[in-house]
Amino acid sequence: MTPSAIDALKREAAESAVKKLADGMVIGLGSGTTSEIAIDEIGKRVKEGLRIIGVPTSERVAGLARNLGIPLSTLAEHPRLDVAIDGADEVEIGTLHLIKGGGGNLLREKIVAASSARFVIIADERKLVTRLGSHWKVPVEVAPFGWQATAERLRQTGAEPALRLRENGEAYVTDGGHYILDCQYGPIRDPVGLTARLDGTVGVMEHGLFLGMANEAVIAGADGVKVYRGS
Ligand code: A5P
Repeated sequence: MTPSAIDALKREAAESAVKKLADGMVIGLGSGTTSEIAIDEIGKRVKEGLRIIGVPTSERVAGLARNLGIPLSTLAEHPRLDVAIDGADEVEIGTLHLIKGGGGNLLREKIVAASSARFVIIADERKLVTRLGSHWKVPVEVAPFGWQATAERLRQTGAEPALRLRENGEAYVTDGGHYILDCQYGPIRDPVGLTARLDGTVGVMEHGLFLGMANEAVIAGADGVKVYRGS
């Protein structure tokens, strides 16, 4: 698939989710390329008169939304959101379990998703998998202090962790000031068990397994847009 064909699918998924937004909603704004297209679509609807408030999941998205005239707020002012719209790196068919964090924003994304009455994933069909870990590593956000020791503990969970780097070779630093260890597990047979182990690993701030969180996945593909429903 060409990059422009992929972008067209991302836009179809984004448009489909954004058209359901209504006046008065407080909306979590996800990060990543698909979410940025959704933010562009929200900006258009705001210009047409839609009255919503957005809570961004990254500094980058906050800047984009502000430039588009989308009113912004925080979880301090709005601890309960109506809906969060976000992308994903992998979406498991059937469970709607996710891997997220390819863009490095998983901690804020998970906090925003957990604060939302509905969590809607938008993606193109390349993201659908029958088993998490088939294509992607699990991003794990860790404290910079002693990250090598945390990486060793992650090895005990079966991972091959790699410190995420910037183009200049320095460690990638998240908006929260943490590092990311991209953990290669291969296909994950027991995501619930792995989640429990990652949740219990000292030094881990958050990880990119989002289990049982997505209510809906809006997936655009060659046959149009399909909506998969979760819990
Ligand atoms: C950001 O940290 C991620 O969770 C993204 O939502 C995810 O990587 C999907 O990104 P794309 O929409 O760019 O594929």
